[in-house]
Amino acid sequence: MVFNLTEEQLAVQEAAREFAQKELLPGVIDRDREMRYPREEVRKMAELGFLGMMVDPAYGGGGMDAISYVVAMEEISKVDASCSVIMSVNNSLVCWGLETFGTEDQKQHYLTKLATGEWIGAFCLSEPEAGSDATSQRTTAVDMGDHYLVNGTKNWITNGGTSQVHLVIAQTDPEKGHRGINAFIVETSWEGVTIGAKEDKLGIRASDTHTIMYTDVKVPKANRIGEDGFGFKFAMKVLSGGRIGIAAQALGIGAGAYELALAYAQEREAFGKPISQHQAIAFKLADMATEVEAARLLVYRSAWLKDQGKDYDTASSMAKVFASEMAMRTATEAVQVHGGYGYVKEYHVERMMRDAKITQIYEGTSEIQRLVISRSILSGNPYVGVL
Ligand code: CAA
Repeated sequence: MVFNLTEEQLAVQEAAREFAQKELLPGVIDRDREMRYPREEVRKMAELGFLGMMVDPAYGGGGMDAISYVVAMEEISKVDASCSVIMSVNNSLVCWGLETFGTEDQKQHYLTKLATGEWIGAFCLSEPEAGSDATSQRTTAVDMGDHYLVNGTKNWITNGGTSQVHLVIAQTDPEKGHRGINAFIVETSWEGVTIGAKEDKLGIRASDTHTIMYTDVKVPKANRIGEDGFGFKFAMKVLSGGRIGIAAQALGIGAGAYELALAYAQEREAFGKPISQHQAIAFKLADMATEVEAARLLVYRSAWLKDQGKDYDTASSMAKVFASEMAMRTATEAVQVHGGYGYVKEYHVERMMRDAKITQIYEGTSEIQRLVISRSILSGNPYVGVL
């Protein structure tokens, strides 16, 4: 068993770390406070190839493996989780979904722009009444012969106001339940697409989250993804990979908070010595370090399974539930280690604590991950393991 990153993966890690420290760190507090979308930073991420990392170079991507992707996600999330969710949605939900299930025409027309970051994509599954219960889609796509007519509302859409392409999940034949659901590529410039209010969020405040309304949007037949009725399975497959990205985001938030707490504890003195020399703090740091390492192993393993072409549905849920809960605990403890300084914006850890929370909610709540894991283990697969 080999735990080393390859030369190429180490180079990606270094590039992502340098970018995050030089380009993202300086403005991260202001962007969070002002809910300011990181337009220039996203443009630079595109230039560096972070928006289509796993896409075949033939379509403008980086042709990298999933491990390189999670390594980059971790480094960027250590500094700015708003930027990393933009990156995660574009890479794992939109680009991967189109590359894996799209037609050649769809790839030529859309993937080439999305992989280079010329265009940004959004994934539109959640609705006011369909969050965890994703089969209960109310958005409809009526078959009109040469096109579909799409009507409905989508909620909490990351990249909602800044994307040029939406992958929209909609019900075509309610009698068929989830087998009547389809996925469509919708351009946001099309008539009938309305970008609703921007959400004022607890965390990842610089990311752009909107409600979207679709009113009689004419979607060409050629923009349906996969066979008729494939939409729900498309969403589930795409989310399995998306959860690896969000697990990597959570890993980065947790690791970033831990690193800040470690540095602070070695500088700050109380009762005549650095607080790291007090067992109360040293043991907190020990727990944080252990949990970060455990999360990293789960995240890397789920990416490795994906790279090997093996089943990663349960592994990605395990990585996400563990990493997101680790991120929440670790960021909260990092605030505690910082004491009063941790409660103010300048020291970053309060933002990380707010940012960590969403990783337990989006791309499937912790409860949904446990549902996926428990169904898998109770159906006769007690371990995901590679052993
Ligand atoms: N791959 C392929 N097919 C899958 C699948 C997978 N991983 N998981 C389920 N399916 C298939 C099932 O096989 C079944 O098909 P058949 O009937 O043909 O066998 C079908 O999908 C329905 O599955 P279930 O019966 O298991 O459906 P369910 O309603 O009991 O549960 C669920 C499904 C796992 C709870 C699912 O609804 C789910 O994952 N919910 C959470 C939704 C979610 O993650 N939303 C995130 C929003 S996107 C987001 O947050 C992006 C962002 O902006 C950051």
